Amino acid sequence: MSGHYTERRTDSVETTERKKIVFSAIQPTGTPTIGNFVGAIRNMVAMQDDYTCFYAAADLHSITVDRVPAEFRKNVTEMVALLLACGIDPEKSTFFVQSHVSAHAELTWLLNCNTMFGEAKRMTQFKDKSKKHPENVNVGLFDYPVLMAADILLYRADYVPVGIDQMQHVELARNIAERFNNKYSPTFTVPEGVLPKFGAKVQSLADPTVKMSKSDDNPNGYVLMLDDADTIRRKFKRAVTDSGDEIAARADKPGIGNLLSIYAAFTGRTVEAAEKECAGLGYGDFKLRVADAVIAGLEPIQARFADYMRNKDYLTEQMQRGAEAAAHAARKTLEKVYRKMGFIRL
Ligand code: TYM
Repeated sequence: MSGHYTERRTDSVETTERKKIVFSAIQPTGTPTIGNFVGAIRNMVAMQDDYTCFYAAADLHSITVDRVPAEFRKNVTEMVALLLACGIDPEKSTFFVQSHVSAHAELTWLLNCNTMFGEAKRMTQFKDKSKKHPENVNVGLFDYPVLMAADILLYRADYVPVGIDQMQHVELARNIAERFNNKYSPTFTVPEGVLPKFGAKVQSLADPTVKMSKSDDNPNGYVLMLDDADTIRRKFKRAVTDSGDEIAARADKPGIGNLLSIYAAFTGRTVEAAEKECAGLGYGDFKLRVADAVIAGLEPIQARFADYMRNKDYLTEQMQRGAEAAAHAARKTLEKVYRKMGFIRL
């Protein structure tokens, strides 16, 4: 699975001291889309071979929007099973559920008092979500990026594989880390966001000018990782394309460009190679070719997912094991932060 992310330059002095650390997380608010997969999950899987990785199902982030408790519980279990099915390997990485490690909530409070209201207010996702749900603009929604900074900084992560939409939050985590380090002395590693080579922003199939998102009101805009083959084919058939008949990734062809980058991501080709290969196909045939590549990529994951879901004891065991390892690593950083800030520790 290597080659999805741009290789990082490694500093020879530092690597002799410690292997670089990676952190990333996904919200269990429902089945992830192929945007989540291409934008983040695949890089998370690929990076396991080269780095010390910590990965979480970010359940604390999920409660910033309304949810039914029983469904929420099911979503977290499914997210754990799905990430294992995608290749997050508990033998290689520490994989856990965020709320099982209380240090995340604790560090959030400490960082809240080192984060400026003005900088949190600038977060575009907060502005967008407040507009979308004016009836539920809760303080948690506002504080969400600080919790995300706590996630990253607790594990002293060097790299954070994400899609473009989360880059602004990673920037905020960098600012918070730098401010804390300057105020108290070097404590946190200043993290760097890592984007995939293709698919850092997969767009909606129904409107290629907006991000593919499972919270889209129009289900034809997104493909979920557990959609069956017929549904995937139907959604791609309906995908909005552009005028003309050329298959090219150009600014005036956002629909075709989006389909090309999905095709490239699922076949391991570059966008240029995908363009060449598909040149001459009619739009209808091109869309079916993309659908087939997505179906072929998702099928083995869906089969493994079904296996994991039949083995809930195994999932619980993995959650337990991951939580213990993560809590151990997180506690070390948290204690350091408490001490530097002047708290009395027993
Ligand atoms: P979430 O759950 O919305 O998305 C998970 C990951 O998928 C990426 N992504 C996309 N990439 C490409 N195209 C798209 N259309 C697309 N949609 C989503 C996101 O950029 C993300 O990488 N707050 C985070 C979860 C989180 C986190 C963290 C991430 C919590 N703590 C610490 C990194 C580090 C979120 O809601 O992502």
